[in-house]
Amino acid sequence: MKFDTPATTNPIDRLRVVGHPVDRVDGPLKTTGRAPYAYEQQLPDRPPAYGAVLGAAIAKGRIVSMDTTAARQAPGVLAVVTAENAGKLTLGKMNTARLLGGPEIQHYHQAVAVVVAETFEQARAATRLIRVRYERERGAFDLEAARPQAKVPEKENGGEPVGDFDGAYASAPVQLDATYKTPDQSHAMMEPHASLAAWDGDALTIWTSNQMIAWGRADVARTLGLDEEKVRLISPYIGGGFGGKLFVRADALLAALGARAAGRPVKVALARPLIINNTTHRPATIQRIRIGAGTDGRITAIGHESWSGDLPGGQPETAVQQTRLLYAGANRKTTLYLAELDLPEGNAMRAPGEAPGLMALEIAMDELAEKLKMDPIALRALNDTQVDPADPKRPFSSRRFIECLRTGAERFGWDQRAAQPGARREGRWLIGLGVAAAFRNNLVTKSAARVRLDREGRLTVDTDMTDIGTGSYTIIAQTAAEMLGLPIDRVTVRLGDSSFPVSAGSGGQWGGNSATAGVYAACMKLREAVAARLGLDAAQAEFDEGQVRQGGRSVPLADALTQGELSAEDAIEFGDLDKRFQQSTFGAHFVEVAVDAYTGETRVRRMLAVCAAGRILNPKTARSQVIGAMTMGVGAALMEELAVDKRAGFFVNHDLAGYEVPVHADIPHQEVIFLEETDPVSSPMKAKGVGELGICGVSAAVANAIYNATGVRVRDYPVTLDKLLAQLPAPERAA
Ligand code: MOS
Repeated sequence: MKFDTPATTNPIDRLRVVGHPVDRVDGPLKTTGRAPYAYEQQLPDRPPAYGAVLGAAIAKGRIVSMDTTAARQAPGVLAVVTAENAGKLTLGKMNTARLLGGPEIQHYHQAVAVVVAETFEQARAATRLIRVRYERERGAFDLEAARPQAKVPEKENGGEPVGDFDGAYASAPVQLDATYKTPDQSHAMMEPHASLAAWDGDALTIWTSNQMIAWGRADVARTLGLDEEKVRLISPYIGGGFGGKLFVRADALLAALGARAAGRPVKVALARPLIINNTTHRPATIQRIRIGAGTDGRITAIGHESWSGDLPGGQPETAVQQTRLLYAGANRKTTLYLAELDLPEGNAMRAPGEAPGLMALEIAMDELAEKLKMDPIALRALNDTQVDPADPKRPFSSRRFIECLRTGAERFGWDQRAAQPGARREGRWLIGLGVAAAFRNNLVTKSAARVRLDREGRLTVDTDMTDIGTGSYTIIAQTAAEMLGLPIDRVTVRLGDSSFPVSAGSGGQWGGNSATAGVYAACMKLREAVAARLGLDAAQAEFDEGQVRQGGRSVPLADALTQGELSAEDAIEFGDLDKRFQQSTFGAHFVEVAVDAYTGETRVRRMLAVCAAGRILNPKTARSQVIGAMTMGVGAALMEELAVDKRAGFFVNHDLAGYEVPVHADIPHQEVIFLEETDPVSSPMKAKGVGELGICGVSAAVANAIYNATGVRVRDYPVTLDKLLAQLPAPERAA
């Protein structure tokens, strides 16, 4: 099904099942431990062996020699695979660094060997018997130091300038020029990267934890030099990904190589202390923002430059993305600079681009509001735009940004905010309120599904879409139930298997809308098949409560199945609506903090997100996505930072003891409001993404609240107490 004109009324609009806060259909499996994750898969007749991964002990250089003799002779060891005996491996399309390093080492903890043994403990013990001699080379590990050599990449350069930024900025009566820093961050998902690989002759099956089945299958095949048809990836349950599992990682490849060498299925999980340097992370940024405005607050010039680093051949963090679209202004310049660093590979983490970009831009807007002596909400509303500021012929498909701000202001009690920072105190606590815009582009991508009605009237949906904890099973079941007029418990959804039709996968907050639209397309075809059997007209028929109705007739759906089951397969394919319209999602984040006047400790007291993101397919799962994203935004604001060892070139705090993320006690009260909205331009579902919108802007709202509480402006995340202490109001004055 081609989607190239805006949706009109369709069966989803009935909203009998879609749009309701249906419980997660996989919830009981998850909460009773019966949802099998990759590492828990059982192959009854083929007990697996276990692989343990050895990571490189240098960040850059070469392996001079590697002695695996003792490891091979260790108890239980079945095989040791290194680059020397692994055979030819081609770099995956989605990987910047090779998943099995050697002799060249590209980053610290790049895998250099997998030991396969009867038990995990034996495998792990044997990795320690491998003797590796390295020749270390000097690397670049410091973004600040590499910044002068950073280049504007040909691809992803940040976009064309509009008007005359330099002239307009120079002549603006009110100017803001500030530089912000965001650190490297880790996805820190609960489930580690893990895989079980099994060979059948030259055919390979990998049960793995992966967000994008088709990308993964293609890259496994490419890396190993196999036909794609020979590779099957299965990933039905995933304990979080956040972008860290968009691509095949070392666990999958080394399980496959280990299984081939050992002649047995092999399980490999990346140990937590290996994950942070072995896999990908969100790269640090340095962002310079310049905004010129009139004394009335209207922006006349907006400039955003962002520097980030990556391994040679890598990509920039696209942190200027939102600045091209969020606010009006005739003169604009956004530029990305990429420095070569020899740190582990930088890549996507929840809302890549916008998440770190808004951490900077939305503090800048707070600072500008202060210079103008304007309320920060009024400033944002004044500079709203309903069209792409760089191409005014392109309207936003929907944009209710101001309504998000105003609704939030009212619900949160924005009038309690003191315009003067440091003015509100409760005992030792300094109280502040902060606001920030949420913005994230809405991407759509082709997605296919197969649907089958069996003779018992059960509907089964097969698609390689994944559920990374987001609720894909549930919204897909709701969509299929709606389309065929069945109760949701008559629908079975099967996901995450490369033998199913290729879906959008889970990434970039495109999965929910695109994958359900693919199921919609397949169900439309199935409705035609049903109608044809019943002698009805599919275009006129209504599917409702197990009946198919048309005109005065009402026929049980089951009557269509007496001659046998019916199935249909189709894909949603998107035309150029995303070119004719700018599709984005909007929101506003409100945060109240209390900062201890003596210690500088920040406690978040209340949070509110107001989102306008098209039709909300399931307000319960959508709310959970936003709550989780808000929590992640608090982490980014207050604690998350990979500490770089700038001499040795690695992330020092590479476990969950050193890399802190928020816990429940850090997050006392969160509320989420979804504005009623449908976006007929986005898909037949009229939905958009929301899972990444929820993190966008949160951290700036926290930082702005801290400023409002204390009068201390921190432009270098995370806002830890050491950055506040020296400038806090004198203790004796903080009663
Ligand atoms: Mo997302 S960072 O594309 O999983």
